[in-house]
Amino acid sequence: MYINFWYPIARSEEITADKPLRVELLTMLFVAFRDEAGGAHVLADTCVHRGGSLSEGWVKGGRAVCPYHGWEYDGSGVCTKVPSLANKKIPARAKVDSYPVQERYGIVFAFLGDLPENERPPLYDVEEYGTEGWKSQLYVYEAACNYERSVENGLDPIHNEFVHPLQGAPTLSPEQQASPVPMEDIPWGSKFYMHYPQKKEQLTKLTDVKSGERVGSAGSWFQGPNQLVTWIDISAENSFHQYLFEAPVDEGRTRIFFLNMRNWLLEDEYDMRIEKPTLDIVQEDVAVLESLRPVKTPPNNTKEILVPGDTVVLKYREWLAKWDANGWRIDAARLAAERQGVAFAIPSPGRRESGNWVLDTIPLQPGGEQAIQRRAGGA
Ligand code: FES
Ligand SMILES: [Fe+2]
Repeated sequence: MYINFWYPIARSEEITADKPLRVELLTMLFVAFRDEAGGAHVLADTCVHRGGSLSEGWVKGGRAVCPYHGWEYDGSGVCTKVPSLANKKIPARAKVDSYPVQERYGIVFAFLGDLPENERPPLYDVEEYGTEGWKSQLYVYEAACNYERSVENGLDPIHNEFVHPLQGAPTLSPEQQASPVPMEDIPWGSKFYMHYPQKKEQLTKLTDVKSGERVGSAGSWFQGPNQLVTWIDISAENSFHQYLFEAPVDEGRTRIFFLNMRNWLLEDEYDMRIEKPTLDIVQEDVAVLESLRPVKTPPNNTKEILVPGDTVVLKYREWLAKWDANGWRIDAARLAAERQGVAFAIPSPGRRESGNWVLDTIPLQPGGEQAIQRRAGGA
């Protein structure tokens, strides 16, 4: 699990100006709420007075109020009221981490890290969202699996015929399966996109061409460790474009925000007819993912036997190694060992602008040469 990426926090409608929402992500707790202008805010959950949980409190006038002694925090994380101090000055250290927020696709995202704006990896841009001729459905579900395993599953073109035999999912030819998947790098990730020679008898109403010239291509790509895209282009006019934004709750639990876009079958009656087989496929994947061992992806490739169809998985792991080298990987073992005695916070950009913070930042694994050796040694 990494700091310094965008993570989905909640559906837009779950975050309100009436009640704080508790969100668990990267093993940490956050509080999400709206101010009086409707802006969404995401703060570290721990009150810096004596450790109250802000998400157990309430929202008053666009501020999160701690339920223990009533300290109030605005959306920027600054404490604006300490009731027991009456009118005396509020200490400068009375602030909690506040994370940059973007609200798109009916989802509130937060940037969980301290990079300044111009250095942040991007939130995936779904260009067709909200444009004429496209319709979207958003599904949110939790799976008892590691998020890296889940992303790798989305990048795996050789599991379809075994895991989804009834769904008419695209299947590669034997020659394609035996050759390395042709890959191309994109900013913060890699992609493949290929023609699938589907047999006519495999096609269902939702996978056969309805209008336009048959393209029969599909591909998947990732941007950052937790954003996954799959395009299934039956024809230029008959496409499903799927976007998965994954929130690692901890090493063994993942909350997935699945935005399913389509440019055909736009009538409402198709919503349910598409949802059912789509969620059946999700269930088939989740059942396999929840039984994988080890739960986490191995740190190097000696503990699995990878074949040409795993090219994309290998690429994904190469990118993870780069983010390890940046020093962005959370040291989950140290965190677990120390967290009973220390309240940690994920560092926010504000930490680069001012000092004097109360909470320690979450332990990170060392980057650089040590990260490379850690992967090589399997430690
Ligand atoms: S612990 Fe939050 S106000 Fe005292
Ligand atoms: Fe699948």
